[in-house]
Amino acid sequence: MADELKLLFSADDIRASVADLAGRISADYEGRDLILVAVLNGAALLAADLVRALAIPVTLEFLRAASYGQSTQSTGVVQIRKDVETPVTGRDVLIVEDIVDTGLTAQFLLDHLSAGQPRSIEVCTLLDKPSRRQIPLSPKYVGLEVGDVFVVGYGMDYNQRYRQLPGIFALEFRGLGAGG
Ligand code: IMP
Ligand code: MG
Repeated sequence: MADELKLLFSADDIRASVADLAGRISADYEGRDLILVAVLNGAALLAADLVRALAIPVTLEFLRAASYGQSTQSTGVVQIRKDVETPVTGRDVLIVEDIVDTGLTAQFLLDHLSAGQPRSIEVCTLLDKPSRRQIPLSPKYVGLEVGDVFVVGYGMDYNQRYRQLPGIFALEFRGLGAGG
């Protein structure tokens, strides 16, 4: 059976939110030494749009983290599959996530990158699901808030599907065994 998609944020909504994030980041990091660390694969689209909207120079890095467990839920057991290649020591690191849900992945990445002794480290996420948090974690930069729904589109997937959609949709599961 087909899954049902309900539009939450249009491409225009996303553009406006990314412009707002880029404005805040450009102001806060002016004259600093910013490394933007995008978390693959979900945040790739956001990172591409965000860097083009920034008014300041930036180093763009990518990191891939794999979380064990079901495809719709984080377990907090995270493995780094691809690490950043630029030393972060003494620099200003901004982790760029598609969505912060339980907060476990972002916290793991904060701890992981903090070990490299950056001058500062913060989290930017396009979407925040604060009602799902399992640990106290407040990203400094949040684009849009969502309730307790599973979302896809603009980089975010369900079993590798729907990443290419220009908008963000709530996915309502049909059929067996696909809770979340
Ligand atoms: P967390 O560790 O629970 O905060 O989850 C972080 C990661 O889980 C995100 O970077 C996403 O890759 C994935 N994720 C969490 N919620 C959703 C969702 O609603 N749609 C798609 N991916 C999600
Ligand atoms: Mg992700």
